[in-house]
Amino acid sequence: MINLKNITCNKENDLTSNSELLILGIFENKKLSSEQKKIDQKLNKNISKVLSLEKFKGKKNTKIICYGNDKIKRVLILGLGDKKNYTSDFARSIASQIVQDSFATNHTNISIDGNSFGLKDNYYAQSFSEGLVLGSYNFIEYKTQNKNKNKIKSVEIRGDINIQNLQKGYCIGMSVGFARDLGNHPANILTPTYLSKEAKKIANQSSNMKCTIIDIKDFKKMKFGAFLGVAQGAKEPAKMIIVEYKGGKKNEKPIALVGKGLTFDTGGISIKPSPSMDEMKFDMCGSATVLGVLKAVSNLKPQANIVFAIGATENMPGSNAQRPGDIVKAYNGKTIEVLNTDAEGRLVLADVLSYINDKYSPTSIIDFATLTGAVLIALGDTASGVMGNNEKLMNEIKEASKVTGEKVWELPLWSEYTKQIEGKYADIKNLGEGRLAGTITAGAFLKEFVGDTPWVHMDIAGTAWGPKKPSYQPKVGATGVAVRLIYQLIENRL
Ligand code: BES
Ligand code: MN
Ligand code: ZN
Repeated sequence: MINLKNITCNKENDLTSNSELLILGIFENKKLSSEQKKIDQKLNKNISKVLSLEKFKGKKNTKIICYGNDKIKRVLILGLGDKKNYTSDFARSIASQIVQDSFATNHTNISIDGNSFGLKDNYYAQSFSEGLVLGSYNFIEYKTQNKNKNKIKSVEIRGDINIQNLQKGYCIGMSVGFARDLGNHPANILTPTYLSKEAKKIANQSSNMKCTIIDIKDFKKMKFGAFLGVAQGAKEPAKMIIVEYKGGKKNEKPIALVGKGLTFDTGGISIKPSPSMDEMKFDMCGSATVLGVLKAVSNLKPQANIVFAIGATENMPGSNAQRPGDIVKAYNGKTIEVLNTDAEGRLVLADVLSYINDKYSPTSIIDFATLTGAVLIALGDTASGVMGNNEKLMNEIKEASKVTGEKVWELPLWSEYTKQIEGKYADIKNLGEGRLAGTITAGAFLKEFVGDTPWVHMDIAGTAWGPKKPSYQPKVGATGVAVRLIYQLIENRL
């Protein structure tokens, strides 16, 4: 959960209000700014004295602390490195590091000289705020002892910084934290029913949101044969979760966000080996991304129409489980040979994608899924694999990705790959030929279920959980990947 309770803005930066700790940033080989000089004057030149005494040059990842006065107890000076290399993503990291360093100290409230971290720029203010929030994230709900709690409750940003952007960053950080929580809960707690309750909870708080849950007992009637094939093996009841958000013009078609919500993936009859199988509780991270964006949208209320949809089930072996070789029929009428019951995500998505496409005629569809281990072979855990049928939508994803720093890399969906999923006894099969291009053949499979609607598929199997490097990313557990990116994309459309 997120421990930081609030971020405030204090327009005055002339040291008339108290602080336990004031944090300043300095770029490499740059002098104190005129604003910082004024602070230095008031603090008896303690800052410039310690800088010259320690020959502090502002190199990246260096820091120095000095005594302030009776009001400003301490001043921490952070080296930001070469100004040319300072990015909003680095601002996010620094902010997170500031909060994490406080795990070791007793400060509960800190102040930050906003201007020296570039926060006059709106997006820098937002991403710095996101970093503060995400740096305070930990998942200790199930620990009864040795809870290493973050003590910082509140951060004050000093200077003439746009409060709206700080608040937006706070909101988006909270939404990413929410997505992480969903990912981190174990599968005995976080069931499809749990996911549906979370969606309802958010939707019920907004007058322009409507939540519909389609229960497994109706899957047959709804013609969700592919989803049902996966869900039938689990005792835990499966759900299709849909939330409609109407923040835009009345008759404007929505954008659709679709998530894979496998609350646990054993592989089914094509069962997975036991090492690391516990990580398959993260197989619902696509749905966590969708709900994370839903959370952000419910708070920030963008003027857009959006449909959020999730296919939630477990993939279990058992006497009622589907068998390799079974043939199922998806909502759009295509028949599928299930050659490997562990390629279940695409089966669930087949029905969610084709149903949402048919029912809502969305302007575009973006799906998020921990779909293939192969994406880790292709891209490692650095970038999400993206594939689609529409260059314009793909460019929107890439543009948003550049802003938020969540890397994506496009893989092709040429007809050669579609050829690989042709079925022997049915229209298509849920596997490619052998193990080659596993991420792409999965994408080519999904492509069969979106018709001509502009669509991008995001394979987040490598990016949805840690450990990850930047300090605002978790050392362990779910990342909440793409919540920031998709909110940015929505905003870019406004
Ligand atoms: N959920 C897995 C993909 C996965 C595997 C994500 C490892 C993260 C780490 C998915 O359902 C799956 O099992 N995919 C198979 C597909 C194969 C049977 C064609 C895979 O990637 O091995
Ligand atoms: Mn699987
Ligand atoms: Zn899976």
